[in-house]
Amino acid sequence: MCGIVGYIGKPKPIAEGLEALKRLEYRGYDSAGMAAYDPKEREVMCIKAVGKIEKLEKKLKGINIKASPFLFYTRWATHGGVTEQNCHPHSDCKGNIWVAHNGIIENYQQLKEKLVGEGHKFLSETDTEVIPHLLEHAFKGDIAKAVQKVVPLLRGAFALVIIAKQDPTRLVAVRKSAPLLVGIGKREYIAASDPSAVVGMTKEVVYLDDGEMAVMSDKGYTVQDINGNHLKKKVDFIDWNIEDAQKGGYEHFMLKEIMEQPETIADTMRGRFGKEAGTAKLGGLEVVGDRLKNIERVHILAMGTAYLAGLVGEQLISEHARIPVDTDPASEFRYRKPIIEKNTAYLFISQSGETADTLAALREVKQQGGLTLGIINVVGSSVAREVEAGLYNHVGPEIGVASTKAFTSQLALLAFLAAFFANRKEKKLPEITEGLKKIPGILARMLKDTRQIQKLAQKYAKIDNMLYIGRKYQYPIALEGALKLKEISYVHAEGFSGGELKHGPIALIDERVPTVALCLSDSVYEKMMSNIQEIKARNGPIIAVATEGDKEIAKIADDVLYIPRVPEPLAPLLSVVPLQLFAYFMALLRGYDPDKPRNLAKSVTVE
Ligand code: G6P
Repeated sequence: MCGIVGYIGKPKPIAEGLEALKRLEYRGYDSAGMAAYDPKEREVMCIKAVGKIEKLEKKLKGINIKASPFLFYTRWATHGGVTEQNCHPHSDCKGNIWVAHNGIIENYQQLKEKLVGEGHKFLSETDTEVIPHLLEHAFKGDIAKAVQKVVPLLRGAFALVIIAKQDPTRLVAVRKSAPLLVGIGKREYIAASDPSAVVGMTKEVVYLDDGEMAVMSDKGYTVQDINGNHLKKKVDFIDWNIEDAQKGGYEHFMLKEIMEQPETIADTMRGRFGKEAGTAKLGGLEVVGDRLKNIERVHILAMGTAYLAGLVGEQLISEHARIPVDTDPASEFRYRKPIIEKNTAYLFISQSGETADTLAALREVKQQGGLTLGIINVVGSSVAREVEAGLYNHVGPEIGVASTKAFTSQLALLAFLAAFFANRKEKKLPEITEGLKKIPGILARMLKDTRQIQKLAQKYAKIDNMLYIGRKYQYPIALEGALKLKEISYVHAEGFSGGELKHGPIALIDERVPTVALCLSDSVYEKMMSNIQEIKARNGPIIAVATEGDKEIAKIADDVLYIPRVPEPLAPLLSVVPLQLFAYFMALLRGYDPDKPRNLAKSVTVE
């Protein structure tokens, strides 16, 4: 998984390409590179650096060429170690054709053996390098034609941007199962992995579909299928600004994204309340309105944090709309030879809309004729385009690798879905819809002062292990709290349901293993209190997340983080927030960059 950018138009300082690349850094950041055609010298300059993009930036200082076309690339290694040689762009033997690639070429070994046999010299251990060498064979002066010949030879997933020194008036971008779009400026074009890289130049974009290729020059662009047939594509408009993709004064994207949750939840909810209390108006589902009437079951499929949102949704929809709900990680579902049922709605939740496993599960369900719905943040992403109907989160770009604002937005949409399904059975859920309206205001108050959480992080900054427990609606929040902590602070953390505690995890408890207990004044309060007593009896420190006004808990817990009282099904929208902040402060205190956790990437577009 990597970020790619390609530009063609009036020759530009390469620093502008670097700026576009910086907004893709969340996609991978172990090394970065660029290849730029200098029209004055008629040469391609290629520079790469190991480490974050700043390292490449340092190397580019003092290089004042104006270039077109050029490619920029930021890497998250899949094949071959983190070295300059393995960083893209890669070229053919002659340094003529240059390629930056996001994805995996599955049959690269066979292709490479053949090419090496024919005398091609490889410099890297990557799968990608076969592409420029294959293009070298096919190139007869027109890079677009060469790409048409080579793409059918490639198996796997790829978004490619390609330039050729001997055909320097063209930039080619081609897509199969990896995100790619073309930003359309005034006689200048920028192909990139996501819109945040193009908003600096233009807000008009064309999203490429699988098997499509864009051929751009300073005179115009065409989108073609792989046989060269021209296609008519819709031009979409990006409705957010470059500032939205930047830190807005916060030290990290993650903190910015945590802090903006009152607004992002409000944005998610806008226009979705029905006229009467307890009803939801979900325009995105209208196209499948008739089929939804017969729905007897919902099956939620997602990965990572989105999967955990799905577990909350399972509770919400089954308890309040009285429809059975299953939730599975998409990665496991797809290999189960799943039985796709006619009266089941398959709901795919994905912030990026590009997660490989989620997309594969979606395609499996579609192929077997199942009804597919989505909750997606990135407009125009693959999941968004492939589901039959869906709801956008409308929370703007989420850049921090650890998902925060997308999660709370997913929870809000799942609450709307519960109301929507209940409404179909003539049932209204006023407690949920009216409760939702108050969430942004409550959250804004909660986020005003984060000092207590910061102090708590100081107290526990040096621990090695941490447990999280919760029950019912708070069980997925225990999992999410633990996930956040391990993702960015690298403290070993595990989440359990309170009920499971006695069946294994309790063996870990001693005075060095603190437990975060989500113990709200709700229907499982007494049960959670018993679990807390069991931990205290074994000298385990307790950090409780509790409801304001609960004095009992303060007598047992070592620390209490209070949250305001809201209806039980909506409490996850609040209780997760102190856990996000705790993980954030822990990462800082332990000396890590929370926006760029090691070994992780924002959007996992490979299996
Ligand atoms: C990665 C990210 C997580 C995210 C998960 C699913 O693991 O680090 O934050 O929850 O992918 O991503 P999606 O874009 O499908 O929600």
